[in-house]
Amino acid sequence: MPLKPRTSRPKAASLFSSAGIGELGIEAAGLEIVLANELVGARAALYRANFGHEILEGDIAEKKDEFIERTRTELGAEELFLLYATPPCQGMSSNGMGKLKSEVAMGRRHHEDQRNRLVIPAMDVTVALRPRWLLLENVPGMEATEIRTDGNQWENIISYVRRRLGPDYVGCAQVIACEDFGVPQRRKRLITIFTRDARGKTLYESNGGSFFSSDMKEPRVTLRCAIGSVPPLDAKAGHNEARWFHPYHYVPVMTDLKYHWVQHTKEGNTAFNNQCINLGCRSTTNPGHRDVQVEGKWVSSKEIPIYCQECGNLLPRPHVVEGGKARLLRGFHSAYRRMKWDETARTLTQNFIYEASDNKIHPSQNRVLSVYEAMVLQTINRYEYTFQIKGKYISTAQIAEVIGESVPPYLIEKICKMMVAASSITGGKLSRRGRNQSQLEIV
Ligand SMILES: C[S@@+](CC[C@H](N)C(=O)[O-])C[C@H]1O[C@@H](n2cnc3c(N)ncnc32)[C@H](O)[C@@H]1O
Repeated sequence: MPLKPRTSRPKAASLFSSAGIGELGIEAAGLEIVLANELVGARAALYRANFGHEILEGDIAEKKDEFIERTRTELGAEELFLLYATPPCQGMSSNGMGKLKSEVAMGRRHHEDQRNRLVIPAMDVTVALRPRWLLLENVPGMEATEIRTDGNQWENIISYVRRRLGPDYVGCAQVIACEDFGVPQRRKRLITIFTRDARGKTLYESNGGSFFSSDMKEPRVTLRCAIGSVPPLDAKAGHNEARWFHPYHYVPVMTDLKYHWVQHTKEGNTAFNNQCINLGCRSTTNPGHRDVQVEGKWVSSKEIPIYCQECGNLLPRPHVVEGGKARLLRGFHSAYRRMKWDETARTLTQNFIYEASDNKIHPSQNRVLSVYEAMVLQTINRYEYTFQIKGKYISTAQIAEVIGESVPPYLIEKICKMMVAASSITGGKLSRRGRNQSQLEIV
């Protein structure tokens, strides 16, 4: 017997669920999540604060049998429509296939990153529950990642997924940019979708082997469109929050020195290129930032001046003072860089609260993005979501962590709606619109 009375909505289960941000899109598409799983207790607690269904806490490698058992109990006689799995991406190689394998063989690395092998228990769960649809999300590097599977053999992750699913399933892995699907952020991701639904397979046929059709795409939303009209903020104490506008519209206060560098940085440029601010000089010809390759690695050039080459004044560039002398801080060209108003945002990461991280400075104000603006760029503001647990806000660093690691729920909603529409085709015709939520049923 299911633990709770269930709705007639198609059922989903989620692995690597974190705080359930991507999962908002699953529910908005009219599916009902019956069970989730997350390793980190604090994230599972935030998940519970946002959803009514159960989340099983712990390592999926140890909990997979319990997860399968409990999902079956929750489903009763119903089938699982969707299994959604977003394994951690930190270990996914962006290098060519086989690089990791050869590095291990040459003794340069001791082991493959064990996190990459989490796809194995995820596939054990998939094979046991046989969902109509499987949706995996990860960084593009997943496509070229190899892991050790059965018999200690190296195998490409996507080939492994395909092999475990067997011939009943059809699908593929595709790199997409979230900015093409109504998310105001570039965010390239590998979306792997397989289905055993006969009508779902028709979708792939009609799209020439792709899940994504051109009519799923939307015009790009620039930063100006997305956050251009929110109240201004400043990283100086007393000006850094507008909670009257939104409880999450606040930014950290910057130190005076960092503020000074940021203040002189132009839109789209990095503080490493700032020019002379001495009123009697104003030279604009000091060489700017360059990345150079040293022993195959990209590092910032040591030749970037910190003192003006015309007047000798200290430039407002990121530096530390040692023994009375300023020394340039090392950093990539994307560090201390302002975003551009008329582009989509660069990929949001959990470092969005740090000005030194990649492309994190507001296009025209002296600050990083507010938590509210990050929610807009990740499309979380379109859904009901709280960062409070039992009435207490979690820390800004924890909020940044779960937002940065999440999947934009709007993308997930679009994907799930397409799955539902595809599965509901009647008479061989594909219905492009999901039906009213309460009427959703798989025929
Ligand atoms: C990319 S995040 C998930 C994003 C989430 N689905 C969303 O859309 O917001 C991956 C999550 O997997 C969790 N994780 C890592 N190792 C795990 C394991 N062995 N078992 C279960 N969860 C794990 C991490 O703690 C992290 O929260």
